[in-house]
Amino acid sequence: MATVLKIQGGFPLNGTIQISGAKNSALPLMVACLLTDQPLTLTNVPNLADIRTTTQLLEILGVVATQGEDTRTLCASHITSTTAPYDLVKTMRASVLVLGPLVARYGIARVSLPGGCALGARAVDVHLEGLRAMGATCDLDEGYIIAKAPNGLHGANFTMRVVSVGATENLMLAASIAKGQTILRNVAREPEIVDLANCLNAMGAKVEGAGTDTITIEGVSALHGATYKVMPDRLETGSYAIAALITGGDVVLKNTSLDYLPMVRETLEKAGAVFEEEVDGFRIYQNGPIQGVDVMTEPYPGFATDLQAPMMALMGICEGASMITETIFENRFMHVPELVRMGANIQVHGASAMVRGVKKLSGAPVMATDIRASIGLVAAGLAAKGDTTISRLYHLDRGYDSLETKLQGCGAIVERIKVDAS
Ligand code: EPZ
Repeated sequence: MATVLKIQGGFPLNGTIQISGAKNSALPLMVACLLTDQPLTLTNVPNLADIRTTTQLLEILGVVATQGEDTRTLCASHITSTTAPYDLVKTMRASVLVLGPLVARYGIARVSLPGGCALGARAVDVHLEGLRAMGATCDLDEGYIIAKAPNGLHGANFTMRVVSVGATENLMLAASIAKGQTILRNVAREPEIVDLANCLNAMGAKVEGAGTDTITIEGVSALHGATYKVMPDRLETGSYAIAALITGGDVVLKNTSLDYLPMVRETLEKAGAVFEEEVDGFRIYQNGPIQGVDVMTEPYPGFATDLQAPMMALMGICEGASMITETIFENRFMHVPELVRMGANIQVHGASAMVRGVKKLSGAPVMATDIRASIGLVAAGLAAKGDTTISRLYHLDRGYDSLETKLQGCGAIVERIKVDAS
């Protein structure tokens, strides 16, 4: 038997959704515990498979983890291993974030090379180039990156070849306890980078410039413990905003902010969305039929690649047409054939997809291929006529805390059911 998500589509979402803490912020924040022998307590931690995987990885390294409903306390006072094994890294590429902190604090790290994933090759060369600039040697042995810096890391002037969220985080973590000053240029400007800088500073680090393209870090000899609240999940926020629109609904999103979604807001407004700011969140509904708008994914503050799939589902029912161009990942259109199974009219030409709006999508059995493809299919299923069943739910569970409960609270008819796997 396999578990699938069954959605009876065609009902507008109406109600309030509480947004959880950000997965993509919580993961590097958890890893920051490796930089101190004192406890780091994080609050507003989402209940997700990737958080459990990161906890497991940290425990393998010797971190003592305790958890409350949405809190995690992580204490790295007795690290017993500096190896991140393949079995975990292959399920979650963000595991590579332990590389910088481990080599900075212990002088050695052995982290499985992640390999390709559903989104494409996804190299980690920029992570390694940055660590080399800080004095580490990085070699490959039997599928593992072996990073060594027996005398510790030193500060460096480093310009990233490509803007990478993960490399920015890895190098910020490492530089916070390296000797001297590090200047990182052409870095990612995502709000999660700012959240990491704020948490590191709460732990005694000296990080400046996060949120701009240059970050300066004065290394300190040791960090201390802290209690820090994870920022709201802007990708969950954007996903539910799009789900509200695709169903013709009217939804209030709480515990979040429009400030994290500048380009998404601008794009959705062009498509006919109305946003009303509220205390601790905002309301979203539509002002007439959804219009086709062109979208190009870009590093923040551009349109997030992680919202490209739900945006494509929305454009599937627009008036007119939309050209959606993916510039971050080489293989992030795996949801297209699934949306086409639901009646969408989409043609892919290289990195662009031409979406011609249809009047109605129709429910179908579909398969999720990554976290965000999953939510694109959920959005399509909520709008479609008839039943949609989505398989491979483990992708969804990596990124969306309490999805069914949140959607049911807005009137959606959605449930997990067991089906014959054959
Ligand atoms: C982060 O992945 C996010 N993950 C991803 O979210 C997100 O899609 C991505 O940033 C882009 O916004 C987390 O924060 C845990 P990158 P990351 O390094 O850090 C190339 C989700 O659904 N590159 O910014 O792995 C790379 O191949 C996930 O929540 C190199 O060439 O992404 C890609 O084309 C999926 N060399 C581009 O840069 C490197 O050393 C951006 O990747 C590193 C990256």
